[in-house]
Amino acid sequence: MKGIILAGGLGTRMLPLTKITNKHLLPVYDKPMIYYPIHTLLEAGIDDIMLITGGNFAGDFLQLLGNGKDFGLKEIHYGYQQGEGGIAEALGLARHFVGQESCTVILGDNVLEKSIRPAVEAFAAQGAGARVMLKEVPDPERFGVPRFDEDGKIEKIEEKPKTPGSNYAVIGVYMYDAYVWEILPTLKPSGRGELEITDVNNHYLGKGRLEYSIVEGWWTDAGTFDSLLHASQLVKDQQLDSR
Ligand code: DAU
Repeated sequence: MKGIILAGGLGTRMLPLTKITNKHLLPVYDKPMIYYPIHTLLEAGIDDIMLITGGNFAGDFLQLLGNGKDFGLKEIHYGYQQGEGGIAEALGLARHFVGQESCTVILGDNVLEKSIRPAVEAFAAQGAGARVMLKEVPDPERFGVPRFDEDGKIEKIEEKPKTPGSNYAVIGVYMYDAYVWEILPTLKPSGRGELEITDVNNHYLGKGRLEYSIVEGWWTDAGTFDSLLHASQLVKDQQLDSR
């Protein structure tokens, strides 16, 4: 299983903070944001990782992470996304790194309290297809949102719907088999001009090959001023609790 961390995009939502650094290098409490997805993958036993980044400060990741050995990574590979063509575009840059293996993808601004290992194991047991992770949230309209049928199966995922079909967010952790590389070239840019990861997930859904796990513990993104502050507070509280 390969791991991919997507830390591209230009972070325009967080100007002026992102004028002189990459969003994923901003602090979440006492560590740079990017440490959290690295830890999440490592903790789940995934230590062969590719980091996709972009923008003017991509070189700073190399200074911070080096060859990954200090973090316990077996390998860290780097990829560069020009512009911000979307999460699915950034994922496409990892194709040769992953080859025919399966992969777990995590967005560089997602922070989780608990291990994703149970979901990774469920995906391994599933054998093929894809798996997403869901978390109940108070503001689903900010995220990809699943709509369920009466049997609790996902019918459709809608990206930032005005009228959400449920109170769940599809979080930024995705597991795919090698079929994902056939889907990516078929995608068309969305209204916001991006290749959407939600379209990839809906493609799997259309084939009846998308499963889901529910996130245990808290989860947040850290890609807005408010969620960045919230993430720092959650991490701080967790550290206090564990003392
Ligand atoms: O956090 C979970 C949400 O992330 C999901 O619920 C949504 O379905 C998914 O589209 C995404 O929504 P956002 O609008 O929050 O994504 P954002 O544009 O903020 O990008 C999230 C991360 O993805 C970002 O920190 C780095 C990576 N990314 C994003 C873009 C647009 C890239 O690597 N390249 C890109 O071009």
